[in-house]
Amino acid sequence: MGNLSNFSPLEGQTSLKILFAASEAQPLIKTGGLADVAGSLPPALRRLNHDVRLILPAYPEAVEKAIPLKTLATLHLPDHHEPVRLLSGTLSGHLPLYLVDAPSLFERVGNPYTGPDGNDWPDNAQRFALFCRAIASVALNQAGLDWQPDLVHCNDWQTGLVPALIHSEGNRPATLFTIHNMAYQGIFDHAIFRKLQLPPELWSLDGLEFHGNFSFLKGGLAFADRLTTVSPTYAQEICTPEYGYGLEGLLLRRQDRLSGVLNGIDCQFWDPATDPYIPQHFDGDTFHLKRFNKLRLQRELGLPQDENAFLFGHIGRLVEQKGIDMILDILPALASIEDVQVVLLGSGAEHFEDALHDMGERHPEKIVVHLGYNEPLAHRIEAGADCFLMPSRFEPCGLNQLYSLRYGTVPIVRRTGGLADTVVDVNPHTLLDGSATGFVFDEPNTSALWNAVERAVKFRRRPPAWWQKLAMTGMRQDFCWESSARHYLDLYREAILNPIPGQTASA
Ligand code: ADP
Ligand code: GLC
Repeated sequence: MGNLSNFSPLEGQTSLKILFAASEAQPLIKTGGLADVAGSLPPALRRLNHDVRLILPAYPEAVEKAIPLKTLATLHLPDHHEPVRLLSGTLSGHLPLYLVDAPSLFERVGNPYTGPDGNDWPDNAQRFALFCRAIASVALNQAGLDWQPDLVHCNDWQTGLVPALIHSEGNRPATLFTIHNMAYQGIFDHAIFRKLQLPPELWSLDGLEFHGNFSFLKGGLAFADRLTTVSPTYAQEICTPEYGYGLEGLLLRRQDRLSGVLNGIDCQFWDPATDPYIPQHFDGDTFHLKRFNKLRLQRELGLPQDENAFLFGHIGRLVEQKGIDMILDILPALASIEDVQVVLLGSGAEHFEDALHDMGERHPEKIVVHLGYNEPLAHRIEAGADCFLMPSRFEPCGLNQLYSLRYGTVPIVRRTGGLADTVVDVNPHTLLDGSATGFVFDEPNTSALWNAVERAVKFRRRPPAWWQKLAMTGMRQDFCWESSARHYLDLYREAILNPIPGQTASA
């Protein structure tokens, strides 16, 4: 295997060379939590003294924010008529960044995955296959960079072909594939497989083939040396038919190489003591100041200003996964509780957007709906709300409940995936031992959610010190990256030392 000569198992501190591949990264381009992770895990690894470089498609937004950029290399890749430039820059001025510049595929303003009509770009297979080939070329030191990683860390289906493309190459680096969401798999038909000129041997049940089509995600799951998901509970869930989308058999077979590593958060960007987006800074010692954020948020959104109002927040992609239909179901009842207010920020499926919009029109004094993507407002909601609703049907990790905890905003979550791993339910036992941080419910239905909301409303009516203790326990939890980054490093080392049998040649 490639770079093992530099690497001794006894030297746990050896600096690793890691190529981190993702289709979005904050602050360059973001549609969801993957961007938060890709924008904060590589810097955390770098702080631990590893040579980490991030590789992304050269979307216009990314190019604009990554200046100064220079052209490092020109790649000639199969199935692509134009030369592809590899640009280099930095993420936030520090982290080395490569952008894969194929203008006909990536020079499109807006969402990296969907066109202005909200549908997937019709050539997504071509776009991300090319991205994977560019990553593979850097991974194999064929891009003329004079740098070869010890490991490529791939994320989600858009990078899933990388382990498949390089697994049989002699001098390949190790690979680790992180599943952020099994619901998105990158499935395309055989004609596209042929058009992409993928190695024919990959069209097999042990390869990419999936029920008569082929799956980018399966490339990662079948060929990476190590697999991770973004929470321990989700790592178990995806091995069952309910969460495995037909890939649970493969995941079960590979369970000895599958781990759950809980996502961390960027504790600088999400810090109520310094957050530039919020009007009033506060921390664990000055929790009482949080109420000024509520008052300012109410003013900003046109809600009656009342520091005693019980303000619920929700931020997220408006899709089934997030249980937004359950939130819609309880909104009328929630709005009928005297001191309750609700603020919702999101964008996504049109029918959810319309239904939420109607709900806001019907209860203007109680419910504010802000459709669209708005990072500063997301921070102000986390800072100003009392409670955060997150009734997800499934949630590989979830970041908003972590931001909520850090901002003293008590989460109400369903016991699934990362939500189950990060929020401790209020009950007599956890109140007594001081571990309670939120309200957790089990069943994915409206009445279970409503029950949890009622518990929160009742709890809120107890002496204020009770609520304060609950919120401040959440604020004390440490979800910053360091310990998860160290966990990844252990897995990187295991992948390098113990690649999948029979997949590598020279050492
Ligand atoms: P997912 O990745 O499934 O969408 P996560 O909870 O992991 O869910 O991450 C979502 C991220 O996207 C969070 O940083 C959240 O604040 C952000 N986000 C989602 N929707 C919006 C929005 N409409 N405006 C601002 N930020 C948003
Ligand atoms: C996905 C998941 C979310 C997770 C995020 C980052 O989008 O839906 O739960 O937090 O990836 O890993």
